[in-house]
Amino acid sequence: MGLKNSYATYGSVAKWLHWLMALCFIGAYCAVYYGIWFFPDARSPDRNFIRGIHTMFGLSVGLLVLPRLIWKVVNVEPHPDPAPNWQHLAAKYAHWGLYFFMIACPLTGWLGTGGRSVNMFWLFEIPTFRGSALFPWLVEGKLGLTFEEWEHPIDIAHKQVFGRWMAWMLILVHIAAALYHHVFEKDNTLRRMVPRAKLLQTESSSEK
Ligand code: HEM
Repeated sequence: MGLKNSYATYGSVAKWLHWLMALCFIGAYCAVYYGIWFFPDARSPDRNFIRGIHTMFGLSVGLLVLPRLIWKVVNVEPHPDPAPNWQHLAAKYAHWGLYFFMIACPLTGWLGTGGRSVNMFWLFEIPTFRGSALFPWLVEGKLGLTFEEWEHPIDIAHKQVFGRWMAWMLILVHIAAALYHHVFEKDNTLRRMVPRAKLLQTESSSEK
């Protein structure tokens, strides 16, 4: 398996980025709902700790999306298995939708979080927007808003629109489509993204 994609399959870099990103989304969702469901007091130390786990997984998505997009642009796309045109179009739009949420969820989370910095797996810290020099310059200086006024609409976008509904619904559709291809169509769609999976011999899998 090469590092780069071929017309037949994804290379190891694209696969690693895909599954790492999936892991970070799972980590961000599991942490945030574990905190909300099991520690309802939003100011308790346990809830704060778990919020920190959410923000570190969430920001990792934001950090991985740039290399992922660059890698996508500089690589060829594997040719998809034969399917009706509408399915190819739906897959294309769904993938761009997922890229949108890979940017929108971390960005709105980062822009709307209080505190000074986010701990990244106890290795290094990333300043929050509020803790950065941008906040007093842009929000207080140029827009004349307090943090609470600024945070309110961004929190609605992050917590109620993107995070709570739109992103995970698209993720579910994405998983369902991959499983449909694997179980019912019995083609290479899922196999192309799985490390070391053997491709079935089809016209598109024999292309270089
Ligand atoms: C993949 C990225 C992310 C996803 C999918 C995501 C999703 C979510 C969801 C679903 C919630 C709970 C909404 C509810 O109330 O039902 C939430 C809450 C929250 N998110 Fe994110 N988020 C992401 C990244 C981030 C980042 C990067 C930050 C900050 C740096 C952040 C900060 C927060 C905070 C502070 C809360 C409130 C948690 C609490 O009340 O304990 N999120 N997010």
